[in-house]
Amino acid sequence: MANPTIFVMLWSLMVSIPNSNARKEGAANEELAWFQNICTTTGKEKVVKLHFFLQDVQAGINETVFEVARASISENSPSNFGLVRVLDDLVTAGPEKDSEKLGRAQGTIAYIDLETSALGMNLNIVFTAGPYNGSTLCILGRNPITVDKRELPVVGGTGIFRMARGYVIGNTYAYDPYTEYGVLEYNAYVSYFDDSSIRTLQGDQ
Ligand SMILES: *[C@@H]1O[C@H](CO)[C@@H](O)[C@H](O)[C@H]1NC(C)=O
Ligand SMILES: *[C@@H]1O[C@H](CO)[C@@H](O)[C@H](O)[C@H]1NC(C)=O
Repeated sequence: MANPTIFVMLWSLMVSIPNSNARKEGAANEELAWFQNICTTTGKEKVVKLHFFLQDVQAGINETVFEVARASISENSPSNFGLVRVLDDLVTAGPEKDSEKLGRAQGTIAYIDLETSALGMNLNIVFTAGPYNGSTLCILGRNPITVDKRELPVVGGTGIFRMARGYVIGNTYAYDPYTEYGVLEYNAYVSYFDDSSIRTLQGDQ
């Protein structure tokens, strides 16, 4: 006689494999339906302006920006060409470092201009509080840091900001050369699809 344990195991395998496949297929179909719907239905894009600050600590005990590498030219370059840094800055609602915490700004920056100081940015705003908690915004592009108001593209995001687009205007709100503490102000103009089915999908995982 067959071992009842093995029988139960085999039975549950036979049942559960098609089930989980069906579930995966169902989720994939739901993703596709959402995507098709979002791409073909007009008038669902929402526009929002986000205003936040990055606490950019380049030295000291609470440093959040670290050097990763430099090129042979970096030392003698007037524009730090080839220098690469990684950062994980606190994002706040106001300019003060103890103001309401909204999340983190995580990414890599590289000095990419041989003549003037300009950064190639890969910056991810990771919201951990407020109405966008759990969502991220992806900022990518060239940042001419000597310019007063810098424009950078918003190229996408996740969660609420899935398929977001737009731009940010960044400027240096404050910088203390002694402590190397910078406060960067960002105004982000973002359009995204505010569809509750996005959240249903996330809750479904
Ligand atoms: C570092 O962070 C801690 C905790 O937020 C704070 O108490 C301290 O004053 C900070 N130190 C400096 C030098 O900013
Ligand atoms: C942000 O979302 C996480 C996950 O849902 C939750 O645990 C946390 O309490 C939220 N934080 C705030 C400040 O709302």
